[in-house]
Amino acid sequence: MRLTVIGTGYLGATHAACMAELGHEVLGVDVDPDKVAALQAGRVPFHEPALLAKHTASGRLRFTTSYEEAAAFGEVHFICVGTPQRKDSEGADLRYVDSAFASMARYAGPDALLVGKSTVPVGTAGRLADTHAAEIAWNPEFLREGFAVEDTLRPDRLVLGVGSERAEALLRAVYAPVIAAGTPVVTADFPTAELVKTAANAFLATKISFINAMAEVCEATGADVSVLAEAIGHDDRIGKKFLRSGVGFGGGCLPKDIRAFAHRADELGVSLAFLREVDAINMRRRDRVVELARELCGGAVLGARITVLGAAFKPDSDDIRDSPALNVAARLRLDGADVTVHDPEAMDNARKAFPLLGYAVSAEEALGGADLVLHLTEWPQFREISPDTARSLVSRPRIVDGRGVLDAAEWVAAGWEFRALGRPAPGEADRMGRLKR
Ligand code: UGA
Repeated sequence: MRLTVIGTGYLGATHAACMAELGHEVLGVDVDPDKVAALQAGRVPFHEPALLAKHTASGRLRFTTSYEEAAAFGEVHFICVGTPQRKDSEGADLRYVDSAFASMARYAGPDALLVGKSTVPVGTAGRLADTHAAEIAWNPEFLREGFAVEDTLRPDRLVLGVGSERAEALLRAVYAPVIAAGTPVVTADFPTAELVKTAANAFLATKISFINAMAEVCEATGADVSVLAEAIGHDDRIGKKFLRSGVGFGGGCLPKDIRAFAHRADELGVSLAFLREVDAINMRRRDRVVELARELCGGAVLGARITVLGAAFKPDSDDIRDSPALNVAARLRLDGADVTVHDPEAMDNARKAFPLLGYAVSAEEALGGADLVLHLTEWPQFREISPDTARSLVSRPRIVDGRGVLDAAEWVAAGWEFRALGRPAPGEADRMGRLKR
């Protein structure tokens, strides 16, 4: 089939390359000529650059800035533009979605199917369908950064929000190889399809904040949240995934999506107040790291040399949007600490957004002379740091494990003062949970 993909950010570029991989001819459209030139030259915003290069080289995938060209190219148009948080409220900013639909609808022929993939407030697809003559469908995406290609080609499910048999048949034809591989297909009306995405992200965020709220209780009682998470995770109904407690979630999706969802629910007269608490618990974890840093530095961080391991909001990504690691780093810098950050992938982005922080090209360099180390993004590289080697580099061996993955016993054996979120400091609580404070 001949498909177009409008908006070539992380979602759109991935979708375009994956649709070419499925055997379609694909034209990617973006209003930004620099983005189009970069993609055409094979520079991609995701991890599998070979996939894009393979299909641009074969000619199966091209990019343009012209909506007119896109409308003439094919029948099915995927709209993959961003829906950032509005500056004046928690709601989603729909200007890119509205403008992409309006531009395509202007040029599209009578048979065109405009398929929204962006994460939108429930009711958007219906509103667009009422506004434009072209047929509309909603097909939300569930990509995780770092696994975007895998999640597109082998998704857990396909959700087809359609208003006609023709739209469903077209989308089933687009995804024929994915469906043939056994992927479950859920066909839904527009509002349900839109809600599947926001509900999924709200559930994931809630799961993380649930275990982080348990971490707060553990901190107050001398219990250990990592043991608690393991134990409740053995129950299949709860499951172990997304129960890693730590400094919390960030990124371009979960934080803004739960805010937009709560905001939309308010508009609809439904209370999703618990999502505001999910957000608040998440932000309190960042406060807790700052508090621990102060405590370990004797009450104030002014003048302390603090090493922050991690800048990306999660490993396998160079994305620093709403990154807990950088949020903590910037706050400590404001409190007068001399902060040095290292991240395997996100250094350029971090430097641009936080020019006043110090940056080191390696973890070893970052550790040199540190009074305190904060481990805030769980890159595997950081787990491999030897506590003995690190001990020989720092000024004072004090570390906060903000991701709960370092081996406390090993670090303590190497002479470190070790603190983790939601876990008693080694030696702090006895086996009866009595805090030695
Ligand atoms: C998230 C969802 O997982 C995707 O399904 C969704 O498609 C995507 O948002 C989106 O809306 O586009 P992503 O933002 O890439 O994907 O990241 P996640 O892997 O979900 O991680 C989000 C944050 O939660 C990270 O900061 C991570 O460190 C944190 N996290 C994750 C925890 O703190 N604990 C966990 O147990 C899991």
